[in-house]
Amino acid sequence: MKKKLIAGNWKMNGSLASNEALVQALVAGAPKADCLMAVCVPAPYLAQVQKLLAGSVIALGAQDVSQHESGAFTGETSVGMLREFGARYCLVGHSERRQYHGETDPVVALKAQRALAGGVTPIVCVGETLAEREAGRTEDVVKRQLAAVIHTNGHCISEIVVAYEPVWAIGTGKTATVEQAQQVHAVLRAQLHAATPHSDRVHILYGGSMNAANAAQLLAQADIDGGLVGGASLKAPDFLSIIAAARY
Ligand code: 13P
Repeated sequence: MKKKLIAGNWKMNGSLASNEALVQALVAGAPKADCLMAVCVPAPYLAQVQKLLAGSVIALGAQDVSQHESGAFTGETSVGMLREFGARYCLVGHSERRQYHGETDPVVALKAQRALAGGVTPIVCVGETLAEREAGRTEDVVKRQLAAVIHTNGHCISEIVVAYEPVWAIGTGKTATVEQAQQVHAVLRAQLHAATPHSDRVHILYGGSMNAANAAQLLAQADIDGGLVGGASLKAPDFLSIIAAARY
């Protein structure tokens, strides 16, 4: 059985001082963990956090990557740049990018492809809005989002990480029930299974108000292979409690 993966998404939070305190506390607590760990930090802090994580078991991640290799794309960050700072993971298609930056399924698929080509593991985020759930469209939406990534990436799909993040559960304190989460994870697993003989290798993370109190139950579900943690990843004790809940 593969180890769980717990990844923190700091979003647009942090400062040189607070990052240092947070990462030092995580590094001190990490050796006790029985899972894979990562922190996805704002791009300007990659260099700082790379140094703070040096020699630790916690991997570095970014929150976005350009679909282009290089060139006249003001404000964008290339996968080559992420690699230079030791990034192992990169979020792609987070709902906040889809919502506020107009990222479409094809763009997300190209970003995943660019990350894979550059040696960075894309954490591909999918998830339905509340309106979509209430309209009974949850499965259609997440399958459409993942299908675009499968279509563009072919057999490389076994190298990605998927994160199911119901949009209505992000930052709201409303978590999907374990049944709701497991049901969608099973759908995504079946879709991956149809696309690659190595689907078991793919971590499918749950994200959306995961915290110290609900992590163990969510992580105990058959198809929940880890968590993508927003708010609770900014406080070392909370993030370490989630990590402690992540057993095989
Ligand atoms: P919260 O854990 O703050 O709900 O955020 C989830 C998320 O969006 C992680 O990518």
